[in-house]
Amino acid sequence: MSGGAAAAPPPVPRGTRVEVVAERVAHGGHVVARHEGRVVFVRHALPGETVEVEITGEGKGGRLLRGDAVRVLDASPDRVEPACPHAHPGGCGGCDWQHASLPAQRRLKAEVLREQLSRLGGLDEIDGVPLRDAVDVVAVPGDRDGLAWRTRVRYAVDADGAAGFHRHRSGQVEPVDRCPLVTDELDSIGVTRTGWRGADAVTTVASSGGDRAVVVEPASLGSSLPRDVAVPGLRGRGWVRERAGGRDWRVAADGFWQVHPGAADALVDAVREALDPQPGEHLLDLYAGVGLFAGCLAPALGEDGRVDAVESSARACADARRNLHDLPGVRIHERSVDSWLRWTELDSVDLVVLDPPRSGAGAEVLDHVLDLAPRAIAYVACDPAALGRDLGLVRRAGWRVAAVRGLDLFPMTQHVEAVALVLPPH
Ligand SMILES: C[S@@+](CC[C@H](N)C(=O)[O-])C[C@H]1O[C@@H](n2cnc3c(N)ncnc32)[C@H](O)[C@@H]1O
Repeated sequence: MSGGAAAAPPPVPRGTRVEVVAERVAHGGHVVARHEGRVVFVRHALPGETVEVEITGEGKGGRLLRGDAVRVLDASPDRVEPACPHAHPGGCGGCDWQHASLPAQRRLKAEVLREQLSRLGGLDEIDGVPLRDAVDVVAVPGDRDGLAWRTRVRYAVDADGAAGFHRHRSGQVEPVDRCPLVTDELDSIGVTRTGWRGADAVTTVASSGGDRAVVVEPASLGSSLPRDVAVPGLRGRGWVRERAGGRDWRVAADGFWQVHPGAADALVDAVREALDPQPGEHLLDLYAGVGLFAGCLAPALGEDGRVDAVESSARACADARRNLHDLPGVRIHERSVDSWLRWTELDSVDLVVLDPPRSGAGAEVLDHVLDLAPRAIAYVACDPAALGRDLGLVRRAGWRVAAVRGLDLFPMTQHVEAVALVLPPH
């Protein structure tokens, strides 16, 4: 055999314990460390800490290890006691940063966001300001110490019928009696104190409009749900009322709506500020859901303004039609964004909101959007990696990233939302 390919490193059995220094945060809710020349992605550690890591798996042909910090030998000043007894190695996989103070969590998320923008987007400054000073992650109004913010939860169910959350990178369920991230209203439904034998998952919602609903997969009533809790298809309505941007919204009980009670308003404010919509302008709301951005921005466009909202879910479009029926300038298109853009007869628009799912908008959608020559694009992203990749694409086409704002819509978890403003070439 001729040389060239590096020999595979010797396997490191699961359960092996090694001492490492945690270096820097990485996308995915872990910290990078090194062990005998290999990268180790360590959960439950913080940058700068010396920790004993239990190896939990290997990746990339053994060149990468995964592990949990099971003992902290030298703690970071950012370390705090987790609020939840299930937030520990081998426990609930729902949270990633309960062991970090909230300011530290936001610093870590900002670092991840900047790293993805730089590495995947080729950005090192925004409007002449170094990325370090231009991008941060802030709490949304109404956040209560990062706890009691989940108004929607999809619980997994274990073999005994107990509701809980998946362990990290596992199909196993950690039964959880009281998740400190859920709101009191959602907890009061009592899903975690009810048996769910025969169910695969139970989605619960406690909406800002005061509705409570449970969607069981496969459909069932459960045993002891309070009588006012709707169980779509079996009891009560299939939708809940939400309130945001000064309007009322109707959303399917298991449809898409932002989870943090402060999120919808914070996103609308960020998008409105970025786009500064003017009377008579034409806005595209792509991946429109039940019409949040279309409905909140349309009034600023006035009687001569127009909005085309594109959304592929039939259910979300039906709700959007109800939600926006008082706004004659808004048209809702039940279609995939890719296909709508390919076939639209429009040759220009003024403003675009892009709020794609985690996978991002991608090259084809972005090409079409740039061809429409909007004066500004607001890109709302829930995955910094997809955002970085997509901002790289628009930059290579000569467009400018004029602002990126990080919002902590998912405290205690690794997730972060960002709103980017993209402007045409000078
Ligand atoms: C992140 S949500 C945003 C919804 C809405 N903008 C909001 O803020 O409530 C993404 C939405 O995109 C829709 N979607 C996913 N893929 C799509 C596609 N290819 N074309 C159109 N809509 C899509 C989903 O149904 C979902 O409603």
